[in-house]
Amino acid sequence: MLQRPRRNRKSAVIRDMIQETHLLPSNLIFPLFIVEGENQKTEVSSMPGIYRHSVDNLLREIESCLKLGLNAFDIFPAVEESLKDKFATESYREGTLYLRAIEAVKKYFPEACVVTDVAMDPYSSDGHDGIVENGEILNDETLVVLGKMALAHAQAGADIIAPSDMMDGRIGYIRNVLDENGFTHVSLMSYTAKYASSFYGPFRDALGSAPKKGDKKTYQMNPANAREALIEAQLDVEEGADFLMVKPGLPYLDIIKLLHDNFDLPIAAYNVSGEYAMIKAAIQNGWLQESAILETLLSFRRAGATSILTYHAKEVLEKGLLK
Ligand code: PBG
Repeated sequence: MLQRPRRNRKSAVIRDMIQETHLLPSNLIFPLFIVEGENQKTEVSSMPGIYRHSVDNLLREIESCLKLGLNAFDIFPAVEESLKDKFATESYREGTLYLRAIEAVKKYFPEACVVTDVAMDPYSSDGHDGIVENGEILNDETLVVLGKMALAHAQAGADIIAPSDMMDGRIGYIRNVLDENGFTHVSLMSYTAKYASSFYGPFRDALGSAPKKGDKKTYQMNPANAREALIEAQLDVEEGADFLMVKPGLPYLDIIKLLHDNFDLPIAAYNVSGEYAMIKAAIQNGWLQESAILETLLSFRRAGATSILTYHAKEVLEKGLLK
């Protein structure tokens, strides 16, 4: 035998020497849930270790993350049912929970990178990402709401705005609104290929944002399709996106790789709530070891993602799992 691949695995030093991909704290974006109130920290039952924080507590949480070298956060609001309406007006109302949270984070921790989520669902009485009329999701009318929401986020201090709604033309529309209002420096992380997935369940529990009727299949992508992601990515590039995201992550590693190989923008992967719940449940039951977390996160890096939105972000640093 001339070739013995095991020679390159014979010691820890050599294994480290030839390691092709690494996971760094700078690859991680930590999604955080917020609620109204003071000193609130309630665990999401389907996501052990993940909480809904009131704004004061959010600041404490972010402070402890920054100390660990975790510098990027994606914030999602749980909105009281009474504040929801058909047009998600609560999403851009002055003084609303979400805008107060962004302002507070940027005031106390200007160095933290705040990613904000633009979509109607947490504020929509229909639980959809667009305006619903006779059971249909209106595209162009929804863009107007998304534009107002994005502008409010930019004014509150968002560093990166991440539209997660999958309406057509939203990146171009939002880019235009931001630029016209002097926010040319605010980045757009597009949910480029967001699939109509069963893996969002725990997130919808956390926010109470599940659709009241129907599903999201007329706007989110069919899990069976890969080439369609290329069309979405092409449009996002043309419309001015700064990042392309694939969501969920694990069941769509091929899509991450596909976008990585065909486009030059940085690729983000969203390791969603259901993927987190799956791994946590197995670890809690003793069915999987904790090293399954790093193995999962490395798979995103290997597929070509530079950024990973993951609920595991804080724990991997706290527990030193990156080593
Ligand atoms: C909706 C949105 C969803 C997630 C982020 N933004 C879910 C959905 O489409 O219903 C899911 C994130 C996760 O599951 O962790 N705008």
